Amino acid sequence: MALLIGVPRETAAGEKRVATVPDVVEKLIKLGFSVAVESGAGDAANCNDDSYRAAGASVAGSAAELWGTADIVFKVRPPTLDEVALLRPGATLIGFVWPAQNPELMAALQARQVTALAIDCLPRQLSRAQKMDALTSQAGVSGYRAVIEAANAFGRFFNGQITAAGKVPPAKVFIAGAGVAGLAAIGTAANLGAIVRANDTRAEVADQVVSLGGEFVKVDYEEEGSGGGGYAKVMSEGFQAAQRAMYAQQAREVDIIITTALIPGKPAPKLITAEMVATMKPGSVIVDMAAEQGGNCELTVPGQAVVRHGVTIVGYTDLASRLAKQSSTLYSTNLLRLTEELCKTKDGVINVNFEDDAIRGLTVVKNGELTWPAPAPKLPPPPPPKAAAVAAPKAAAHGHGPGEPMKGSTLAIVFAVGAVLFALVGLYAPAAFLSHFTVFVLACFVGYMVVWNVTPSLHTPLMSVTNAISSIIAIGALIQVAPPLDATGAADRPHALILGCAVVALVLTAVNMFGGFAVTRRMLAMFRK
Ligand code: NAI
Repeated sequence: MALLIGVPRETAAGEKRVATVPDVVEKLIKLGFSVAVESGAGDAANCNDDSYRAAGASVAGSAAELWGTADIVFKVRPPTLDEVALLRPGATLIGFVWPAQNPELMAALQARQVTALAIDCLPRQLSRAQKMDALTSQAGVSGYRAVIEAANAFGRFFNGQITAAGKVPPAKVFIAGAGVAGLAAIGTAANLGAIVRANDTRAEVADQVVSLGGEFVKVDYEEEGSGGGGYAKVMSEGFQAAQRAMYAQQAREVDIIITTALIPGKPAPKLITAEMVATMKPGSVIVDMAAEQGGNCELTVPGQAVVRHGVTIVGYTDLASRLAKQSSTLYSTNLLRLTEELCKTKDGVINVNFEDDAIRGLTVVKNGELTWPAPAPKLPPPPPPKAAAVAAPKAAAHGHGPGEPMKGSTLAIVFAVGAVLFALVGLYAPAAFLSHFTVFVLACFVGYMVVWNVTPSLHTPLMSVTNAISSIIAIGALIQVAPPLDATGAADRPHALILGCAVVALVLTAVNMFGGFAVTRRMLAMFRK
């Protein structure tokens, strides 16, 4: 018999998200389930009762009716103990549970003889689990919103502008912690035109920061910050001191700081001290995304925006909920993907299959039995890094880009063929032709070596190479225009036609060379802040 999925209204103060949006209701029905939504559950996320009805859901008038009839309850926030008391024994709850932080809730779920799937316990390192990763989807929304909150509290543009009313410098934004939320914040702030810098204790994120348009600022202290599973660890005293010095420097320079640094199971590291806040420019903004876990800034007040030393410190703990439609849509898609894994038969019945690492990881209570913490999932061995590193130069050797001379063997073949052709020409061609031909072959060889060894200093390697070719042509043309003097001091004047060609060649190469530099300057000026 098809199971009934119930979507209650979130009761946590200020929570605007809803666990399932109408688009996803349609897909759940296609999987064989029936869906009931508590009246008003989606109002704050711009999904009214009628839109759910249109998608095929029924609308329950009260929380008691919904909780009491649902076989599976989709939630966002962990349920209250009162809500757990409304669950039918044998039912399944899917949503955030945070078992380590909520022992009373865990005990209530067991006592109620239900099954609880905690989306926050999903083994995120399994690539198959990414589509269900609600921590990532919600952190992405929060990172975006943190920048919007910063922009709202900041009194200037993010991007630099040159207007008739004067030049506006771009805002400087520093992001502490480049995990999922931090990277989303980097991308958003860079897209708004700010100069973005970021720091993280895990060195591996430096490339990701750069690829999103940020600059990675290193701490002047050698210590790896990975604590396993992609998360950070608590750093040594020495590192923390060096990091404080760097953060103090950034606080003096930047306009906006967004902090996202977290360490699993530990209070958020205190990265921004009260003294650092006092050195920031008046009107600066700090958005502390770690406010709920104690905050990365000493002066953060969780849940509030306060002004200290002329700096607005935003400590909102509901950033994802402030973009309710977006976060609800992503969250409900995560739950839909999880439901697909639970209901492979597409007949409206779920199978909490412990053979599946992802499902095992997020099942914290099964039929009233505690199944948390789950054993670590079996991960495929990481690809051997050495092989890739060795393969790279080999692959590069086949290319003939600028700065990569030909391989020795190829060069030898070219020489051998050239020598044979030269011998044939020497045997049969007239003597005058032979001397010109010798010069021509040597010029080709010298030209090749010069051009391909040029270090690109212009905007693109192609521009550098064309400029190098132009230079050789210019030298040749100059020799024709002003030929070297012979032993008697006389110069061998060239034919007027050759002279004309040389002058034209000089003009054209000059246009190409100076034009190349001029175009490069203009292109770089477009990106310069
Ligand atoms: P998080 O929210 O626990 O931490 C946020 C960031 O703060 C992390 O990047 C951490 O290194 C950084 N941090 C901690 N202490 C710091 C300090 N003292 N100074 C500066 N930075 C500090 O982590 P989140 O964003 O949930 O995920 C972190 C990582 O987990 C991701 O970047 C990724 O590598 C990994 N992950 C992997 C997934 C996968 O394999 N499918 C999915 C999601 C995350």
